[in-house]
Amino acid sequence: MHNVFIFVILSSSFALIAHSCTITAKWDLSIQSTVYGNIVAHIKSGDTDLGNHTIPFGGNYTWSFCARIDGATLYYGYFWWGSRFQSLALYDIRICDICSRFQESGTGHCYWLVTPDGFYVSGDPYQGGVDPHAKFIKQWS
Ligand SMILES: *[C@@H]1O[C@H](CO)[C@@H](O)[C@H](O)[C@H]1NC(C)=O
Ligand SMILES: *[C@@H]1O[C@H](CO)[C@@H](O)[C@H](O)[C@H]1NC(C)=O
Repeated sequence: MHNVFIFVILSSSFALIAHSCTITAKWDLSIQSTVYGNIVAHIKSGDTDLGNHTIPFGGNYTWSFCARIDGATLYYGYFWWGSRFQSLALYDIRICDICSRFQESGTGHCYWLVTPDGFYVSGDPYQGGVDPHAKFIKQWS
């Protein structure tokens, strides 16, 4: 209960700066693929289904949302790459914490990078090469 209360105070002060969402922070997420060929990404949360999206090599899929006031925002991603598959949380408390590390307050950004090794996330856009801020989250199954 205590944690929820603190989160509400934090997200309210966030909103004063971000303006785009009424009370909570706005988040921009992007998924960039560096996998040869197409991957298919199906992204959904409890109440929003963004459907299937084909992301080609070097392509980018982006979407935005307002974080839930209770801190329980969860976006899940299902990925197909030929015969490979993986599913993982693209935004939850843990991912929010990773993405927030190198950011000023205001609109939050999470940059996912899908590689043949698996799935990385960072609060900074991918610049090419090895990104020291990117955190490895999961391999393809
Ligand atoms: C999304 O794409 C996957 C892989 O191609 C497919 O198995 C699935 O049926 C698709 N889902 C929808 C809702 O089109
Ligand atoms: C992907 O989208 C993000 C957010 O809009 C942007 O910052 C980034 O430059 C894009 N990357 C590419 C390769 O288009």
